[in-house]
Amino acid sequence: MEEKKPKSLRSKEWFGPEDEKMGFIHRSWLRNQGYPDDYFRGKPVIGICNTWSELTPCNAHLRDFAEFVKRGVREAGGFPLEFPVTSMGETLMRPTAMLFRNLSSMDTEESIRGYPLDGIVLLTGCDKTTPATVMGACSVDLPTIVVPGGPMLNGWYKGERIGSGTFVWKLKDKMKNESFTTADLTEAEICSARSQGHCMTMGTASTMACMVESLGLTLPGAAAIPAVDARKKVMAHLSGRRIVEMVKEDLKLSKVLTRKAFENAIICNAAVGGSTNFVIHLQAIANRIGVELELKDFDRLGSNIPLLVNLMPSGKFLMEDFFYAGGLPAVLKELEEILHKDAITVNGATIAENNQQAPCYNREVIASFDQPFQEKAGIAVLYGNLCEDGAVIKPSAATPELMTHRGKAVVFETIEEYHERIDDPDLEIDASSVIVLKGVGPVGYPGMAEVGNVDLPAKLLKKGIKDMVRISDGRMSGTAFGTVILHVSPESAIGGTLALVKSGDTIELDVPKRSLQLLISDEELKARRAAWVAPEPHSERGYLNLYINTVQQAHLGADLDFLVGKSGSEVKRDVH
Ligand code: FES
Repeated sequence: MEEKKPKSLRSKEWFGPEDEKMGFIHRSWLRNQGYPDDYFRGKPVIGICNTWSELTPCNAHLRDFAEFVKRGVREAGGFPLEFPVTSMGETLMRPTAMLFRNLSSMDTEESIRGYPLDGIVLLTGCDKTTPATVMGACSVDLPTIVVPGGPMLNGWYKGERIGSGTFVWKLKDKMKNESFTTADLTEAEICSARSQGHCMTMGTASTMACMVESLGLTLPGAAAIPAVDARKKVMAHLSGRRIVEMVKEDLKLSKVLTRKAFENAIICNAAVGGSTNFVIHLQAIANRIGVELELKDFDRLGSNIPLLVNLMPSGKFLMEDFFYAGGLPAVLKELEEILHKDAITVNGATIAENNQQAPCYNREVIASFDQPFQEKAGIAVLYGNLCEDGAVIKPSAATPELMTHRGKAVVFETIEEYHERIDDPDLEIDASSVIVLKGVGPVGYPGMAEVGNVDLPAKLLKKGIKDMVRISDGRMSGTAFGTVILHVSPESAIGGTLALVKSGDTIELDVPKRSLQLLISDEELKARRAAWVAPEPHSERGYLNLYINTVQQAHLGADLDFLVGKSGSEVKRDVH
């Protein structure tokens, strides 16, 4: 058999020519960092794409963390070069970090393509940093491995587990109904963020970490290891070693990210009770790499999957407990019979091979497939005249009695109007009402903010009401819960039916039938549509303008339309 010639390194195009001016330029300036000559003579160059930032607290440890990756790269004979990309801190960035996911993905894509890199390690953590960098990397399609930064240690407050994010959503209730003082609040702030790492509930960051592991983009077991556990450093180190091998094997992203990998990720996300944000990010990643995926696939593949993980916001425990119980490998082992066993992962083995020995150490945290915490988890996709292109709800985080519901709409045209009026004692609202929030979609906010799980009115909280049906074109934090219908598409700002709802209209929700209907006549709907006036655009310049003019709707993944797909890694022209 003819021996397969190893593929020439991409970086050779920069460093290879011995006697040419360009080879001199590319090598000479890099030498100012003190690299010996052999670093330019055929070592695979590994780009460590770092989303470190002190303004992204969840990723603030990643600068030190990169050193462990470098250690592994060097041991395996590679040449590591770290570079920064736009980082998005969920809790600090206005108006919402999601507005900049696509910007960061562009930054990642062009940084990878423009530089002499053969393989990529993505260091990620906070919610948007994972999908953004994976999306960007997909559009170049080099060998790529993800190292998730890891969750914070369990939060503990007055003897109880306290979940980052999830506790925040209970605050309004607590401040109004209990003797909860400012001093208590201050104490709770540090208790819910007591170590480096990202949110330690099964919020969006943990969901994203599980997503990349179930897609096969991490070494097995990477998702759940806490940020401060020494094993996280080992994982980074081993990932550094492995990416060098991946370059030699030419194991590109597109070889791992097959349709089967996406289906596995959807099944896994349902089993772990992952965030609704999963839908939008996975869709965007699929569109970049060129795998066909539709909103309906999330329901078809995920909504009959049993819930196997007992983590907040749906359950009781946190990511540290999840790690001690066996982490994602234990879940993937339970799902073995329904996953595509032959989906290849970054270590070269299949997902089934990687997880076949995975033990579970605590059935209170990770259930067996036969005795799940809930029979059906996942995300339900709704259709109807109120959401012609779809909307999503996470039934495991909702109130079962509200899954079929008919109620009168109480409409808020903007988030500002909601804040102004929601606690007005004269607001006509009761527990059966349906809160409708407009103007929080991709174009409308802009950036599709995580405001869909708006607080209930104080007067109803005082009466002990814990949940109501809420509908919006926005998203919900993965740490949140409630009967919240999200991602209504098309959104109100571009004239979706949501824009036409008026207070007092009747809305009918039927999750078992996957239906969401505004119960008004077609004539009335037509008349309202004819009278509708589009809101003023948020900006006429800069990135914001580019974003609002090109962003796709939620059901397509909210990417910028011109970023969909990939351009590969070739760059034909050089700097001179
Ligand atoms: Fe960064 Fe939750 S705020 S992961």
